[in-house]
Order: sequence, then structure tokens, then C-alpha cells
Amino acid sequence: MRRPRVLCCFGTRPCAIKMAPVVHALQAADDLDCQVVVTAQHRQMLDQVLEIFRITPDVDLDLMTARQTVQDVTARVLLQMTPVLAELQPDLVLVHGDTTTGMAAALASFYQQIPVGHVEAGLRTPDLMIPFPEEMNRRVIDRLSTLFFAPTPTAQEALAREGITSGVFVTGNTVVDALLYVRDRIDHLPLPPWHEQLGGYRILLVTAHRRESWDEGLANIARALRRLVEEFPDTAVLFPIHKNPVVREQMGPLLEDHPRIALVEPLDYEAFVQAMRWSHLVLTDSGGIQEEAPSLNLPVLVMRDVTERTEGIAAGCVRLVGTQTAGIVGAAREILSDPGIYQHMATAQNPYGDGQAAEKILTAIRQFFGNALA
Ligand code: UD1
Ligand code: UDP
Repeated sequence: MRRPRVLCCFGTRPCAIKMAPVVHALQAADDLDCQVVVTAQHRQMLDQVLEIFRITPDVDLDLMTARQTVQDVTARVLLQMTPVLAELQPDLVLVHGDTTTGMAAALASFYQQIPVGHVEAGLRTPDLMIPFPEEMNRRVIDRLSTLFFAPTPTAQEALAREGITSGVFVTGNTVVDALLYVRDRIDHLPLPPWHEQLGGYRILLVTAHRRESWDEGLANIARALRRLVEEFPDTAVLFPIHKNPVVREQMGPLLEDHPRIALVEPLDYEAFVQAMRWSHLVLTDSGGIQEEAPSLNLPVLVMRDVTERTEGIAAGCVRLVGTQTAGIVGAAREILSDPGIYQHMATAQNPYGDGQAAEKILTAIRQFFGNALA
């Protein structure tokens, strides 16, 4: 009898990072067959992750185009996944999070009546349009799924409110598994190139890319960063800037001329974890970074108006500061000036996981196949 076949499909940097521990766990399981299909919705940023985690995809759809729209990605993933699923014949397809790759791959699987498992299920904001299009993507994935790997009890409760109570497993977020895997492997790295410019300063590590922050939000963030480095001469900004040309075109001119602001290319995951270890504070609109930084005792300011990740705020390691200049500067000022507040945030427990999420997902998958085969 052939072993149950699990196909992992992802395409962006954050999903690759968060699926890598699941792929490793499945590959190590001799009772299951693991296949990896990447859409390459992100090309360069995905490849950086595949290399760090030594994952060689079975199929690479290579579908990224410059300035792609969500419609482009949806259509290409749906059409190109269909023959791949027909050929590989998986018994379960795992998708991740809220990207368009995840949503369209789940839909393609549903159309072929292949069960879908959703890793990082149950995240919700109250507003269907924020974040856009991610809030709709993850809701659609949850409607299409059979297995739900909820990172926290809060996510499990959100699913229950929508009537989804069976096939739900609370596992922790696999990003913590990924972070710990890399953290234990980076001591050998040389001093990073940006160290020459920024070494000796308290580093504010910054990322921003979300569609709802484009234009006004990004301009506000840039203004806030300039004010902060002027007000605190012992600080400097390290900003690895997303490959999306819209973000680069908007942020570049606003920030590139300051001696204590370094705009750098996206760092590979090892280099980014190293940067987090060197940093004093993170300012970001990223989902993944706010889940992983607390494991490195690094306080996080989330530059968004609405969040689906409330657990970090409740735990005290994360603050939601909005996308207005004054709010960002005010919150950062408080943390940069008050060692007590800083310490409190830095030492709060990470509520997103303990590094065992992939093993829990594996156990749940075995249970699913055990029941299915029984
Ligand atoms: C996507 C996800 C978003 C996720 C983010 C993580 C959707 C709709 N959006 O947004 O949920 O938070 O990834 O980073 O799924 N590009 C490159 N090289 C790369 C990556 C991107 O050149 O390695 C450029 C291309 O011009 C591409 C553009 O960035 O067309 C946008 O990429 P896309 O994946 O559509 O959107 P993101 O803003 O990255
Ligand atoms: N990251 C990285 N290099 C960078 C910036 C981020 O490896 O230069 C990692 C980061 O550690 C986190 C993930 O990428 O795990 C977050 O990706 P992104 O912000 O693109 O997406 P989001 O989490 O917002 O969906």
C-alpha cells in the first residue's frame, strides 16, 4: 500500500519560512510521503528561504511577474496547480496563511476534491478589507479546508465562532520552530555589511510592505523614522526593503539620504535573524516578525491600524501603534527613553509558540490519515 501523500504548496517568503519546519517534519516521517510545490509568487525572496532550509521543490511553477496583480496570481495558481494535482495525486494539500498562493491552491485542491489542511488557520480582523486581500484569502481558505492548524487558542475560538469545530488543532505558530532552527545555526556568521555604518548605535529594525500602508501610510512611517533618529542620536535605522517595486519607489526617495538610515536589500533569513539579535527595537507591519521577535526578547511596534494578532499585545511584547507619524514616534519615544518599559516588553513571554508546532501538525496529520484509513 502506498504511503499517504502530503503536498505542501507555498510561494511567498513568509509562507516558505513558516512551512519549512512542516516540510522538514514530513520529510523525516517514514510513514508519509512529502511533496513540495512552489508557485514562486515571490521569486528571489522565496529562493533565499529554500536555500537556507535546504528544500528542493518537486515542482516550481515560477509564476511571478513584475508588478503582478492579485488577479494575475490567483488565475495563474488556479490554472497551473490543476494539472500538478492531477499528476501528483496527493491525499492532502497543505497551504499556509493568507496569501493569494494559499487561497488559489486551496481552491484548486477543493475543485479536485482533495482535502486541504490550513497551517496558521483562524486569524481574523473584524474588517474584511484589512488587511487586503489577506483577510478574505484566509477566510476563503478556512471555508475550503478540512484540517485547521490554529496557532493559538484565540485563533481556535475565531474558527469556533464561524462554526468550525472539527479538525481543529492548536499547534503554536511554526514561525517559532523556524526561528529557533536558524538561531542555533548563525553563530558562525561574520559581521554583517551594514555593521560598519550602524555598529555602536541602538538599531531600530524596520520593515513595511502592506498594501493598505502604500502611499500615505508609508510616507507617515518614513517621517516617523527620520524624527526618531534626529531625536535619539544614539539610534540608527536598518530597513531591509521589500522587493515590491511600489514599496521601493515610495520609500527610497524619502529615506535614502540620511547617514543613520540604511536601506538594504531583503536579508536572507539567517541574516535577518542575526539583524534581530543586534537590534534594540523592531518597527514593522509584518505578521511573521511580530510573532518571532519576542522569542529573541526584542520589543515590537506594529505599524498597522488593525491587527489579527492580538496575543502579543495581551502578553506585553508587542504594541499596536497605527500608521500616523505621531503615534509611531510617541510609542517609540516611550520605549527608547524608559528602560523599565523596555525591559517589561523585552522579557514578556512569546504567546505564539514554543518551537514544537511542526511536530504537533505531523501528529494531527497522522491522526487524520489513521481515521481516514481505519
Ligand atoms: C505578498 C502577499 C502578502 C504577504 C507578502 C509577504 C498576496 C496578495 N500578498 O505581498 O500577503 O504579506 O507577500 O512579503 O498574496 N517581487 C520581486 N521579487 C520577489 C518578491 C516580489 O521582484 O522575490 C516584486 C514583483 O514585482 C511582484 C511584486 O513584488 O510582482 C509583488 O509581489 P506580490 O507577491 O504580488 O505582493 P507582495 O506585496 O509581495
Ligand atoms: N524576513 C527576512 N528578511 C527580511 C525581512 C523579513 O527573512 O529582510 C523574514 C522575517 O523574519 C519573517 C518573514 O520574513 O519571518 C516576514 O515576511 P514579510 O514581512 O514579507 O511577510 P508577512 O509576515 O508580513 O506576511
